[in-house]
Amino acid sequence: MKPLVIANWKCNPVTTTEAKRLFNSVKEGLKNIKDVEVVICPPFIYLLALKANSHKAIKFGGQNCFFEKGPFTGEISPQMLKNLGCQYVILGHSERRALGESDEMINKKIKAVLKEGLKPILCIGEKDQEFKTKEIKNQLRGALSIIKISDLENLIIAYEPVWAIGTKNPCDFKDAKKANSSIREILAEFFGESMAKNILVLYGGSLNSEIAAGYIKESKMDGLLVGGASLDAEEFVKLVKKVARALIPSP
Ligand code: 13P
Repeated sequence: MKPLVIANWKCNPVTTTEAKRLFNSVKEGLKNIKDVEVVICPPFIYLLALKANSHKAIKFGGQNCFFEKGPFTGEISPQMLKNLGCQYVILGHSERRALGESDEMINKKIKAVLKEGLKPILCIGEKDQEFKTKEIKNQLRGALSIIKISDLENLIIAYEPVWAIGTKNPCDFKDAKKANSSIREILAEFFGESMAKNILVLYGGSLNSEIAAGYIKESKMDGLLVGGASLDAEEFVKLVKKVARALIPSP
């Protein structure tokens, strides 16, 4: 399985011209990358323009969606994201939870996204700088309630400790490895060992090109969810290349 590196552009950049410039530099820099699956999640208004100028190796994702279509002013549905070329959708990001998104809403969104055949990237993570299994278990239980077992192969979990997001204070490799194991144990308890092992677990929080590969090699993560560093094309390309290089076995 290729490691998955996902760029979450959040609410950036401000113009389509800037979005195209950033995307084109990333695309150019990664044109020969085969060993890493790269997904760009821009604000959805840029999806059409970027997709038109993309190549197959780069996939797209949304940063959020609603669970219904119809009279819901300002919302966007999974179907719309799919029609814009998305294969992934970030859900339950802590920045959205801070705006009032509940586990119940996240659960409805996950189901709606899975129904469209898209892959939800469920963000979870503790608030204080101490991993608490109970807190993580509650987030997973709430968000994954009554999910079809057959849908689990499309589910992706992003472990993003809230204290590590945008702080230049990333979780260290050892603690990320422990968190990874705990998350896997919880998933195995919910869904059984054999189903749980197909679920990808990513790390996110203050990533940069210097440390990124360590989470794959040492923390045994299946991929990364990159915020700030994905807005600098050179840095993001470097990060992806380091992840690709980390996979080459040492002689
Ligand atoms: P930073 O990489 O800027 O810390 O953001 C992480 C994140 O929230 C990705 O979803």
